[in-house]
Amino acid sequence: MRIPLVAGNWKMNGTRASVTALAGAIASGCKAGGPQVVLCAPAIYLGAVAEVIAGSSVMLGAQNLSDQDAGAYTGEISGPMLRDMGARYVIVGHSERRRIYGETDALVAEKFEAARRCGLAPIVCVGETLAEREAGATQAVVRRQLETVINLNKLAEFEDAVVAYEPVWAIGTGRTATPAQAQEVQAFVRALVASRDRRIADGLRILYGGSVRADNAAALLAQADVDGALVGSASLDAGEFLMICAAAAARVKIK
Ligand code: PGA
Repeated sequence: MRIPLVAGNWKMNGTRASVTALAGAIASGCKAGGPQVVLCAPAIYLGAVAEVIAGSSVMLGAQNLSDQDAGAYTGEISGPMLRDMGARYVIVGHSERRRIYGETDALVAEKFEAARRCGLAPIVCVGETLAEREAGATQAVVRRQLETVINLNKLAEFEDAVVAYEPVWAIGTGRTATPAQAQEVQAFVRALVASRDRRIADGLRILYGGSVRADNAAALLAQADVDGALVGSASLDAGEFLMICAAAAARVKIK
């Protein structure tokens, strides 16, 4: 059985006051028996958020990490530092990192490895642009992104890792993939992993991300291979985020 996971990606938003209020509202609204909930706060607020969610079921996540563990890398934040602040998860290879900051497939694979080295569970993002989808290249792109990570890391490292399918054209655009589109790619991801190790594939949680909201979450989460959601803008509103968590709780997991 795969336990559903809902991760909020707050991106570069909020103030110390607003993120701690948001974390508090989400932590107190999370019901027992629901999905696992991870809040990926801006790095500078991880400590403040950790204090607020201490003792709750909500877990802490980061949005990015360095591929290095320590040293002369001005401005970078390492996996061991994130762990030290209480993070359990870290997003790796978000399309905004790839597109705006030029992160390559190879660097994303290195970051995945860096996360595993220090015991962080990576949430590795894959997904095609609109041009790639229209050119019929969706599977080729997702395969390339994922295989670069798999080839550098042993497949066993995917045991506690999470994959997020986030079509770039659906992120922050209000344009969500249809449940069928999400399912098609996410089944492809699982099959790709299963071709190497069926047991790991069966246990792998694959999230959908890209304009997930309270009103479309249930239909997405009803799909066989949609094990949860990576939520951007809707995670900045506690009420809406908790409704998405409720939709994930209702997900019937059939294996
Ligand atoms: P969005 O962002 O929900 O605002 O589309 C999702 C993400 O970037 O992870």
